[in-house]
Amino acid sequence: MSGERIDLQEGQARFIVPRDLFFNPRARLSRDFGVLALRAEADLQGHRLHVIDLMAGVGARGIRYALEAPVERIVLNDGNPAAVEAIRYNLQLNAIPSDVKVEVVCEQVHRLCYAVRLRDERFDWVDLDAFGSPSVYWHAASLVPRWDGVLYLTATDMAALCGKLRDPAVRHYGAVTRPWECGDEVGARVLLGALQQSAGERGLYYDPLFVLDEGYAMRIAVRLRYGASTFPVQHVGWLVKCMGCFSQTTLPLHVTVGRCRVCDSEDVQWAGPLWTGSLHDPEFLHLISVAARKAGHQAVLRLLRLMIDEVDSPAGYYAAPELGKRAHLRRLPPVDGLVQQLRQEGYIASRTHFETAGFKTNAPYPVIQRIAGQLQ
Ligand SMILES: C[S@@+](CC[C@H](N)C(=O)[O-])C[C@H]1O[C@@H](n2cnc3c(N)ncnc32)[C@H](O)[C@@H]1O
Ligand SMILES: [Zn+2]
Repeated sequence: MSGERIDLQEGQARFIVPRDLFFNPRARLSRDFGVLALRAEADLQGHRLHVIDLMAGVGARGIRYALEAPVERIVLNDGNPAAVEAIRYNLQLNAIPSDVKVEVVCEQVHRLCYAVRLRDERFDWVDLDAFGSPSVYWHAASLVPRWDGVLYLTATDMAALCGKLRDPAVRHYGAVTRPWECGDEVGARVLLGALQQSAGERGLYYDPLFVLDEGYAMRIAVRLRYGASTFPVQHVGWLVKCMGCFSQTTLPLHVTVGRCRVCDSEDVQWAGPLWTGSLHDPEFLHLISVAARKAGHQAVLRLLRLMIDEVDSPAGYYAAPELGKRAHLRRLPPVDGLVQQLRQEGYIASRTHFETAGFKTNAPYPVIQRIAGQLQ
């Protein structure tokens, strides 16, 4: 390949990135996580997987899948011919095992997904690594996984998801997002809620496998399910925050008025509609942990511990700095101490992978403030 470029090594893959093409080194964690999750999925299914990378860029992610996970067939697609040239070059740089069938395609996502569907092909794992909101693609992308197959998608429109830009949140997700202390989790849940609704239109739904908040991007893996009557209606609703006492709680979608259950204030803000169910499947997280332990991947293991810990906690979290300000504390409340004391008092409590200084609990906020004060 001619022109300016950089040479990189990530995982077992070597690749070049021409200066004018997109590659984000910060997305390494999500690519590592994807490789380990793919190994987990192959373990679960008991066979090598058929994978499609719908927006492959220079191919880093797809090539790593082919080299580092039990893959039988992989399709790498990008709509930009220059990216596809880089993918072909990068494939040559790496010794892809001869029993992995590799196909390179230069097509628009929608055209490719409909073509796959018309050919009656299906994939075990569908990667959709979009810039901005993935909503424009997810209808098409949902045509590609087999029943019970996995869609692993990215959203980078964090300003909309986390409540800084309201209009695009309404446009893309039909939802109100909020710049609350747990605004990023609200964003993940809005994303999941809207994704569910898009599947529900066609008698489908998704079981979340995991949500990974990387700060600048949200990664979500979901398993496609068939069945209108089993659509998880009970897990679509609102996250409500009291502006009087700061307690957070969820409400079902059909409830559209209400006061704070803790202090009876009418001054409550609503976020949603959003997904109020589990963000992670604990069994799947355990399988990824097994793969991460074998690989000795300490960063992913640390993240997984937090994700496993938060599985049974309620939606939304509180942040220690806000708590410190609201309770007029001299020192930042210690998150581990808070979680421990809340548990001792019989509440559900955990840390959260969304925020180092965050914690989840079903305790009313006045209880949290009292405990934080005692811990000073
Ligand atoms: C975020 S980058 C992909 C990065 C890559 N997955 C990685 O991990 O390095 C998005 C890619 O999608 C491609 N793309 C954007 N819109 C597309 C479309 N409608 N159809 C196909 N490819 C598209 C762009 O050319 C770009 O390479
Ligand atoms: Zn209240």
